[in-house]
Amino acid sequence: MATKDNWSSDLYSTNASFVPKLGSIILGMLDAKPSEHILDLGCGDGILTASLGDQCASVVGVDFSSDMIEHAISSNKHNNIKYCVVDGHYLPEWFDKSNQSSFDAVFSNAALHWLKEPVKAINGMHHVLKPNGRAVLEFGGHMNVGEIHTALITALSKRGFDGKALSPWFFPSAEYYSDLLEQNGFDVATCELVPRITQLDTDIKGWINTFGFSFFKDLTDVEKGQIIDEVVEHLRPGYQREDGKWFVMYVRLRVIAHKRSI
Ligand SMILES: C[S@@+](CC[C@H](N)C(=O)[O-])C[C@H]1O[C@@H](n2cnc3c(N)ncnc32)[C@H](O)[C@@H]1O
Repeated sequence: MATKDNWSSDLYSTNASFVPKLGSIILGMLDAKPSEHILDLGCGDGILTASLGDQCASVVGVDFSSDMIEHAISSNKHNNIKYCVVDGHYLPEWFDKSNQSSFDAVFSNAALHWLKEPVKAINGMHHVLKPNGRAVLEFGGHMNVGEIHTALITALSKRGFDGKALSPWFFPSAEYYSDLLEQNGFDVATCELVPRITQLDTDIKGWINTFGFSFFKDLTDVEKGQIIDEVVEHLRPGYQREDGKWFVMYVRLRVIAHKRSI
């Protein structure tokens, strides 16, 4: 369950504008139709939600972070998009309380690996979809940002913290996630891991500051700075190119699954 909003829409647009830019493949897999009503789960600052707004009848963007949602609302130019602060672990509660109509599709880019209770998230998607509705999802899968993840856990564990427990991420294998979907009311059409070398907008420090906040919640600023410096130097030989640009090996899990008709 998510507990505290540590997301910054400013850091996100400075250090991670590549995330929505690289969402075009999963948007293509969604293949939204003009008549459709779509939920964008973990919509962030709303860049991809706006693309959905151009393609379909209506969109609701939900995100745990009030900072992200405020940014999405202030830059929204579509009258067919609504935004709400919602923890994706609790979609049914939000859906039933706010009298939403069921969705033709749930779309989600780069968000579901932040939801550490995947069965709750899957049950929620199932609850808000129309019969035969589809979930079209891309998020971090097994070995995503593997070396950064391991380096952060190791740096914390070496100082006596439980680095693994502090990790905010759930990076499942295709087999594991596909089984979870099948066991919880979906027919899986596609579920595959796709490695993707990704150039960063800034550098690895910017990446860690934007996405790594959960690892540092029990640390002083000095300890946090020491760990970040240590991890940056650990990664530099493999992750920084000759021209100084930084790259990260992402591994995306791309999924299309349909709500099973009973
Ligand atoms: C990497 S961003 C992706 C944002 C957007 N989908 C995009 O492609 O730019 C991940 C988003 O997941 C959201 N998130 C994290 N935990 C969440 C939760 N429990 N429920 C809903 N959203 C969550 C974060 O607030 C953040 O906006």
